[in-house]
Amino acid sequence: MNLPPRFWSIFFEVYESLPRQGPGNHASTAKALGMCHELPVSPKVLDLGCGGGAQTLDIAELTSGHIVAVDLHTPFIQRLQAEIERRGLAQRIETCVGDMNHPEFPAGTFDLIWSEGALYNIGMHRALSLCRNLLATGGYLAFTDAVWRKANPPPAVKAGFDLDYPTMGWVTDLVDAIAASGFEVQGHFTLPDDAWWADFYTPMEGRIEALRDKYANDAEATAILDQLAEEPRMHRDYSEYYAYAFFVARRQSGD
Ligand SMILES: C[S@@+](CC[C@H](N)C(=O)[O-])C[C@H]1O[C@@H](n2cnc3c(N)ncnc32)[C@H](O)[C@@H]1O
Repeated sequence: MNLPPRFWSIFFEVYESLPRQGPGNHASTAKALGMCHELPVSPKVLDLGCGGGAQTLDIAELTSGHIVAVDLHTPFIQRLQAEIERRGLAQRIETCVGDMNHPEFPAGTFDLIWSEGALYNIGMHRALSLCRNLLATGGYLAFTDAVWRKANPPPAVKAGFDLDYPTMGWVTDLVDAIAASGFEVQGHFTLPDDAWWADFYTPMEGRIEALRDKYANDAEATAILDQLAEEPRMHRDYSEYYAYAFFVARRQSGD
């Protein structure tokens, strides 16, 4: 998105404070992990676009594997690193500021690639191809993505997604794209509405209100906060039109 630096500075002032940077919850992560039936006992895991690492820490709790967590935004990685040290998990989780579009890992390195709400940033077809290359044969890919769930969305909803995710499709589009990219789809499910609110939109609305006080005399900042507040408001009014879905796929053999 081509937005001015002031937008991004306030965007991150909101997002860096949130428990999660997108929809998700522990139960959904556990459910998707449960669909990876033949993982090794201690899988090598890559978490792409980990944000502050809520799901990274969940995967560490739910597996005995080794996890590499990657994100472009340094403050998210610093926050995750601090939490890893606080929990004594430094032997099991490695963090890395990096671009998932240019991964620096040998082909076939990972047993499981995880990505909640992040793959779309580099385009889903490219992401699927990169992930396939990084996975060992038989390795799993688990990711979430936004999908349409009802046709003819109101103009405000259409405009919101045209800005952030103009190529957003339906569950069937993603299932087809996954299958066409050398994976076998293991399953998919829609995240419950609570996964949007508990750790994401409710704290986001609280943070926006707190920043309104801080920026009470700053018209530019207030306008940006108004813009950010649109997203949870839109979800409250129109969530029947779109969803977040978890997809679990398995890398098939072959080149
Ligand atoms: C919607 S947030 C989701 C974060 C986290 N997975 C969660 O669910 O809370 C998307 C994340 O992807 C990261 N991101 C976007 N483009 C990226 C890229 N090219 N390489 C690595 N991370 C990227 C962003 O910095 C952000 O933390």
